[in-house]
Amino acid sequence: MTRPVTARVPAKVNVQLAVGGLRPDGFHDLANVFLAVGLHDEVTATPADTLRITVEGADAGQVPLDHTNLAARAAVALAERHGIAPAVHLHIAKDIPVAGGMAGGSADAAGALLACDALWGTKATREELLDICADLGSDIPFGLVGGVALGRGRGELLTPLDTGGTFHWVFAVADGGLSTPAVYRECDRLREASGAGAGVADVPDPEPSPALLDALRTGDATALAAVVSNDLQPAALSLRPALAATLRAGADAGALASLVSGSGPTCAFLAKDPEAAQVVADALAASGTCRSVRITSGPVPGARLVDA
Ligand code: C5P
Repeated sequence: MTRPVTARVPAKVNVQLAVGGLRPDGFHDLANVFLAVGLHDEVTATPADTLRITVEGADAGQVPLDHTNLAARAAVALAERHGIAPAVHLHIAKDIPVAGGMAGGSADAAGALLACDALWGTKATREELLDICADLGSDIPFGLVGGVALGRGRGELLTPLDTGGTFHWVFAVADGGLSTPAVYRECDRLREASGAGAGVADVPDPEPSPALLDALRTGDATALAAVVSNDLQPAALSLRPALAATLRAGADAGALASLVSGSGPTCAFLAKDPEAAQVVADALAASGTCRSVRITSGPVPGARLVDA
Protein backbone atom coordinates (compact mmCIF):
# COMPACT_ATOMS: atom_id res chain seq x y z
CA MET A 1 0.00 0.00 0.00
CA THR A 2 1.51 3.35 -0.96
CA ARG A 3 -1.30 5.77 -0.19
CA PRO A 4 -0.83 7.74 3.07
CA VAL A 5 -2.35 6.05 6.12
CA THR A 6 -3.73 7.99 9.08
CA ALA A 7 -4.32 6.71 12.62
CA ARG A 8 -6.34 8.61 15.22
CA VAL A 9 -5.46 8.04 18.89
CA PRO A 10 -7.13 9.36 22.06
CA ALA A 11 -5.71 11.04 25.15
CA LYS A 12 -6.24 9.51 28.59
CA VAL A 13 -7.02 10.54 32.10
CA ASN A 14 -6.20 8.31 35.07
CA VAL A 15 -9.22 7.95 37.34
CA GLN A 16 -7.08 5.96 39.77
CA LEU A 17 -3.31 6.10 39.85
CA ALA A 18 -2.07 4.08 42.82
CA VAL A 19 1.74 4.08 42.93
CA GLY A 20 3.70 1.34 44.72
CA GLY A 21 7.29 1.54 45.93
CA LEU A 22 10.32 2.28 43.75
CA ARG A 23 11.43 -1.00 42.12
CA PRO A 24 15.09 -1.90 41.59
CA ASP A 25 14.63 -1.23 37.84
CA GLY A 26 13.63 2.39 38.50
CA PHE A 27 9.91 1.90 37.79
CA HIS A 28 6.97 1.72 40.19
CA ASP A 29 4.27 -0.94 40.26
CA LEU A 30 0.90 0.65 39.60
CA ALA A 31 -2.81 0.11 39.84
CA ASN A 32 -3.56 2.49 37.02
CA VAL A 33 -7.14 2.90 35.80
CA PHE A 34 -6.98 4.60 32.41
CA LEU A 35 -10.00 6.22 30.73
CA ALA A 36 -9.66 7.32 27.10
CA VAL A 37 -11.17 10.74 26.35
CA GLY A 38 -12.14 12.48 23.13
CA LEU A 39 -9.04 14.58 22.49
CA HIS A 40 -7.07 13.00 19.65
CA ASP A 41 -3.76 13.18 17.84
CA GLU A 42 -3.62 12.00 14.22
CA VAL A 43 -0.51 10.36 12.81
CA THR A 44 -0.20 10.10 9.01
CA ALA A 45 2.41 7.76 7.52
CA THR A 46 3.60 8.41 3.94
CA PRO A 47 6.38 6.57 2.06
CA ALA A 48 9.66 8.56 2.13
CA ASP A 49 13.38 8.02 1.51
CA THR A 50 14.24 8.21 5.22
CA LEU A 51 12.45 8.52 8.53
CA ARG A 52 11.15 12.05 8.95
CA ILE A 53 8.78 13.68 11.47
CA THR A 54 6.69 16.82 11.08
CA VAL A 55 4.20 18.20 13.58
CA GLU A 56 1.33 20.67 13.37
CA GLY A 57 -0.79 22.12 16.20
CA ALA A 58 -0.62 24.77 18.91
CA ASP A 59 2.07 22.88 20.89
CA ALA A 60 4.03 21.71 17.83
CA GLY A 61 7.15 23.65 18.81
CA GLN A 62 7.56 21.54 21.95
CA VAL A 63 7.63 18.20 20.11
CA PRO A 64 11.04 16.67 19.24
CA LEU A 65 11.47 15.96 15.52
CA ASP A 66 14.42 13.57 15.86
CA HIS A 67 14.77 9.86 16.67
CA THR A 68 13.85 10.51 20.33
CA ASN A 69 10.24 11.15 19.30
CA LEU A 70 8.22 8.14 20.49
CA ALA A 71 6.45 7.94 17.11
CA ALA A 72 9.84 7.61 15.37
CA ARG A 73 10.93 4.96 17.88
CA ALA A 74 7.71 3.02 17.25
CA ALA A 75 8.30 3.05 13.48
CA VAL A 76 11.92 1.91 13.95
CA ALA A 77 10.88 -0.89 16.32
CA LEU A 78 8.28 -2.24 13.87
CA ALA A 79 10.66 -1.98 10.91
CA GLU A 80 13.46 -3.77 12.80
CA ARG A 81 11.19 -6.67 13.71
CA HIS A 82 10.27 -7.12 10.07
CA GLY A 83 13.74 -6.53 8.61
CA ILE A 84 12.74 -3.48 6.59
CA ALA A 85 13.95 0.12 6.51
CA PRO A 86 11.86 2.64 8.49
CA ALA A 87 11.50 4.79 5.37
CA VAL A 88 8.48 6.83 6.31
CA HIS A 89 7.34 10.40 6.77
CA LEU A 90 5.25 10.65 9.96
CA HIS A 91 3.10 13.75 10.18
CA ILE A 92 1.54 14.34 13.59
CA ALA A 93 -1.52 16.59 13.90
CA LYS A 94 -1.33 17.36 17.60
CA ASP A 95 -4.38 18.17 19.65
CA ILE A 96 -3.39 16.46 22.92
CA PRO A 97 -1.46 18.76 25.31
CA VAL A 98 2.31 18.10 25.19
CA ALA A 99 3.98 16.79 28.40
CA GLY A 100 0.62 17.33 30.10
CA GLY A 101 -0.05 13.97 31.77
CA MET A 102 -2.53 12.93 29.07
CA ALA A 103 -0.24 10.47 27.22
CA GLY A 104 0.06 12.56 24.05
CA GLY A 105 3.52 11.22 23.19
CA SER A 106 2.30 7.71 23.91
CA ALA A 107 -0.70 8.25 21.63
CA ASP A 108 1.64 9.28 18.81
CA ALA A 109 3.68 6.09 19.26
CA ALA A 110 0.56 3.90 19.16
CA GLY A 111 -0.69 5.81 16.10
CA ALA A 112 2.66 5.56 14.28
CA LEU A 113 2.73 1.82 14.90
CA LEU A 114 -0.76 1.26 13.54
CA ALA A 115 -0.24 3.55 10.54
CA CYS A 116 3.18 2.06 9.62
CA ASP A 117 1.85 -1.48 9.97
CA ALA A 118 -0.89 -0.65 7.44
CA LEU A 119 1.45 1.31 5.13
CA TRP A 120 4.14 -1.39 5.07
CA GLY A 121 1.75 -4.34 5.04
CA THR A 122 3.67 -5.89 7.94
CA LYS A 123 0.40 -7.36 9.30
CA ALA A 124 1.62 -7.44 12.91
CA THR A 125 -0.69 -9.31 15.26
CA ARG A 126 -2.45 -7.42 18.05
CA GLU A 127 -0.09 -9.14 20.55
CA GLU A 128 2.98 -8.03 18.59
CA LEU A 129 1.73 -4.43 18.46
CA LEU A 130 1.00 -4.46 22.20
CA ASP A 131 4.45 -5.95 22.83
CA ILE A 132 6.21 -3.19 20.88
CA CYS A 133 4.07 -0.59 22.69
CA ALA A 134 5.00 -1.98 26.11
CA ASP A 135 8.72 -1.97 25.19
CA LEU A 136 8.50 1.70 24.23
CA GLY A 137 6.65 3.05 27.28
CA SER A 138 4.30 2.19 30.12
CA ASP A 139 1.30 4.20 28.84
CA ILE A 140 1.56 3.25 25.15
CA PRO A 141 -0.39 -0.05 25.12
CA PHE A 142 -3.41 1.82 26.46
CA GLY A 143 -3.36 4.15 23.44
CA LEU A 144 -4.01 1.09 21.29
CA VAL A 145 -6.65 -0.43 23.58
CA GLY A 146 -8.62 2.69 24.61
CA GLY A 147 -11.94 2.55 26.46
CA VAL A 148 -11.31 1.99 30.15
CA ALA A 149 -8.65 -0.40 31.38
CA LEU A 150 -6.74 -1.37 34.50
CA GLY A 151 -2.96 -1.21 34.03
CA ARG A 152 -0.83 -3.35 36.36
CA GLY A 153 2.93 -3.81 36.42
CA ARG A 154 4.38 -0.45 35.39
CA GLY A 155 1.04 0.25 33.69
CA GLU A 156 1.54 -1.84 30.55
CA LEU A 157 -0.34 -5.00 31.59
CA LEU A 158 -3.90 -4.12 30.65
CA THR A 159 -7.26 -5.58 31.55
CA PRO A 160 -10.20 -3.87 29.80
CA LEU A 161 -12.95 -2.77 32.21
CA ASP A 162 -16.70 -2.50 31.72
CA THR A 163 -18.29 0.92 31.88
CA GLY A 164 -21.94 1.80 32.11
CA GLY A 165 -21.97 5.24 30.56
CA THR A 166 -20.24 8.35 29.34
CA PHE A 167 -18.40 10.69 31.72
CA HIS A 168 -18.09 14.43 31.04
CA TRP A 169 -14.69 16.03 31.56
CA VAL A 170 -13.08 19.43 31.50
CA PHE A 171 -9.30 19.73 31.17
CA ALA A 172 -7.32 22.78 32.22
CA VAL A 173 -4.08 22.92 30.25
CA ALA A 174 -1.18 24.53 32.11
CA ASP A 175 1.64 26.64 30.71
CA GLY A 176 4.61 24.33 30.13
CA GLY A 177 4.85 20.61 30.84
CA LEU A 178 6.08 18.41 33.66
CA SER A 179 8.59 15.60 33.20
CA THR A 180 7.10 12.23 34.17
CA PRO A 181 10.37 10.87 35.67
CA ALA A 182 10.75 14.09 37.69
CA VAL A 183 7.24 13.70 39.12
CA TYR A 184 7.88 10.06 40.10
CA ARG A 185 11.19 11.15 41.70
CA GLU A 186 9.36 13.85 43.64
CA CYS A 187 6.78 11.27 44.78
CA ASP A 188 9.64 9.13 46.13
CA ARG A 189 11.29 12.16 47.77
CA LEU A 190 8.05 13.14 49.53
CA ARG A 191 7.58 9.57 50.76
CA GLU A 192 11.17 9.50 52.11
CA ALA A 193 10.71 12.92 53.71
CA SER A 194 7.55 11.74 55.49
CA GLY A 195 9.62 8.98 57.11
CA ALA A 196 7.57 6.16 55.57
CA GLY A 197 10.18 5.19 52.96
CA ALA A 198 9.73 4.90 49.21
CA GLY A 199 10.87 1.35 48.40
CA VAL A 200 8.78 -1.71 47.53
CA ALA A 201 9.10 -2.93 51.13
CA ASP A 202 7.85 0.41 52.49
CA VAL A 203 4.83 1.15 50.29
CA PRO A 204 1.73 -1.09 50.20
CA ASP A 205 1.11 -2.93 46.93
CA PRO A 206 -1.14 -0.73 44.78
CA GLU A 207 -4.64 -2.16 44.34
CA PRO A 208 -7.61 -1.02 42.25
CA SER A 209 -10.43 0.45 44.33
CA PRO A 210 -13.53 -1.80 44.29
CA ALA A 211 -15.76 1.29 44.72
CA LEU A 212 -14.12 2.89 41.69
CA LEU A 213 -14.60 -0.21 39.52
CA ASP A 214 -18.26 -0.28 40.64
CA ALA A 215 -18.79 3.39 39.77
CA LEU A 216 -17.29 2.82 36.31
CA ARG A 217 -19.51 -0.25 35.79
CA THR A 218 -22.67 1.64 36.68
CA GLY A 219 -21.64 4.87 34.89
CA ASP A 220 -22.36 6.87 38.06
CA ALA A 221 -20.36 10.10 37.84
CA THR A 222 -21.12 11.19 41.42
CA ALA A 223 -19.97 7.84 42.80
CA LEU A 224 -16.86 7.94 40.59
CA ALA A 225 -16.05 11.48 41.74
CA ALA A 226 -16.06 10.33 45.38
CA VAL A 227 -13.29 7.80 44.78
CA VAL A 228 -10.99 9.12 42.00
CA SER A 229 -7.41 9.33 43.25
CA ASN A 230 -3.93 10.10 42.02
CA ASP A 231 -0.88 9.26 44.13
CA LEU A 232 1.24 11.50 41.88
CA GLN A 233 -0.87 14.56 42.67
CA PRO A 234 1.08 15.66 45.79
CA ALA A 235 4.31 15.42 43.77
CA ALA A 236 2.87 17.41 40.83
CA LEU A 237 1.60 20.06 43.27
CA SER A 238 4.96 20.16 45.03
CA LEU A 239 6.73 20.82 41.71
CA ARG A 240 3.99 23.17 40.44
CA PRO A 241 2.23 24.78 43.47
CA ALA A 242 0.14 27.02 41.17
CA LEU A 243 -1.94 23.97 40.20
CA ALA A 244 -3.71 24.20 43.57
CA ALA A 245 -5.46 27.37 42.37
CA THR A 246 -6.55 25.64 39.14
CA LEU A 247 -8.00 22.71 41.09
CA ARG A 248 -9.79 25.12 43.43
CA ALA A 249 -11.27 27.15 40.55
CA GLY A 250 -12.83 24.01 39.04
CA ALA A 251 -14.12 22.76 42.38
CA ASP A 252 -15.64 26.18 43.16
CA ALA A 253 -17.45 26.08 39.81
CA GLY A 254 -19.18 22.84 40.80
CA ALA A 255 -16.94 20.09 39.39
CA LEU A 256 -17.82 16.74 40.98
CA ALA A 257 -14.11 15.95 41.21
CA SER A 258 -10.90 17.89 40.56
CA LEU A 259 -7.59 16.10 40.12
CA VAL A 260 -4.25 16.29 38.39
CA SER A 261 -4.22 14.15 35.23
CA GLY A 262 -1.48 11.51 35.55
CA SER A 263 1.86 13.19 36.21
CA GLY A 264 0.34 16.59 35.29
CA PRO A 265 0.32 19.48 34.91
CA THR A 266 -3.03 19.22 33.10
CA CYS A 267 -5.89 19.23 35.63
CA ALA A 268 -9.01 17.13 35.07
CA PHE A 269 -12.53 17.97 36.27
CA LEU A 270 -15.42 15.52 36.25
CA ALA A 271 -18.83 17.11 35.60
CA LYS A 272 -22.38 15.83 36.05
CA ASP A 273 -23.45 16.52 32.44
CA PRO A 274 -22.39 18.61 29.40
CA GLU A 275 -24.08 21.75 30.80
CA ALA A 276 -22.21 21.48 34.10
CA ALA A 277 -18.99 20.88 32.13
CA GLN A 278 -19.57 24.15 30.25
CA VAL A 279 -20.03 26.05 33.55
CA VAL A 280 -16.77 24.59 34.92
CA ALA A 281 -14.96 25.35 31.66
CA ASP A 282 -16.17 28.97 31.60
CA ALA A 283 -15.09 29.48 35.21
CA LEU A 284 -11.66 27.98 34.56
CA ALA A 285 -11.18 30.14 31.47
CA ALA A 286 -12.10 33.24 33.48
CA SER A 287 -9.93 32.26 36.46
CA GLY A 288 -6.61 33.06 34.81
CA THR A 289 -5.15 29.87 36.36
CA CYS A 290 -4.56 27.93 33.12
CA ARG A 291 -3.50 28.42 29.50
CA SER A 292 -6.52 26.82 27.84
CA VAL A 293 -9.57 24.75 28.63
CA ARG A 294 -10.98 21.72 26.81
CA ILE A 295 -14.36 20.02 27.21
CA THR A 296 -14.72 16.40 26.22
CA SER A 297 -16.13 13.05 27.28
CA GLY A 298 -15.13 9.43 27.52
CA PRO A 299 -14.60 6.55 27.35
CA VAL A 300 -13.79 6.53 23.62
CA PRO A 301 -12.17 3.74 21.53
CA GLY A 302 -8.40 3.32 21.19
CA ALA A 303 -6.23 3.88 18.09
CA ARG A 304 -8.09 3.51 14.78
CA LEU A 305 -7.18 3.94 11.12
CA VAL A 306 -9.18 6.72 9.51
CA ASP A 307 -9.58 8.09 5.98
CA ALA A 308 -7.07 10.93 5.60
O1 C5P B 1 7.44 4.01 30.72
P1 C5P B 1 7.74 5.44 30.49
O2 C5P B 1 8.84 5.65 29.49
O3 C5P B 1 6.54 6.27 30.22
O4 C5P B 1 8.31 5.98 31.88
C1 C5P B 1 8.95 7.21 31.99
C2 C5P B 1 9.55 7.31 33.37
O5 C5P B 1 8.50 7.43 34.34
C3 C5P B 1 10.35 6.11 33.81
O6 C5P B 1 11.69 6.21 33.38
C4 C5P B 1 10.23 6.19 35.31
O7 C5P B 1 11.11 7.17 35.83
C5 C5P B 1 8.83 6.72 35.51
N1 C5P B 1 7.85 5.64 35.70
C6 C5P B 1 7.85 4.94 36.89
N2 C5P B 1 6.95 3.94 37.11
C7 C5P B 1 6.04 3.62 36.16
C8 C5P B 1 6.00 4.32 34.94
C9 C5P B 1 6.93 5.33 34.74
O8 C5P B 1 8.66 5.22 37.78
N3 C5P B 1 5.17 2.65 36.39
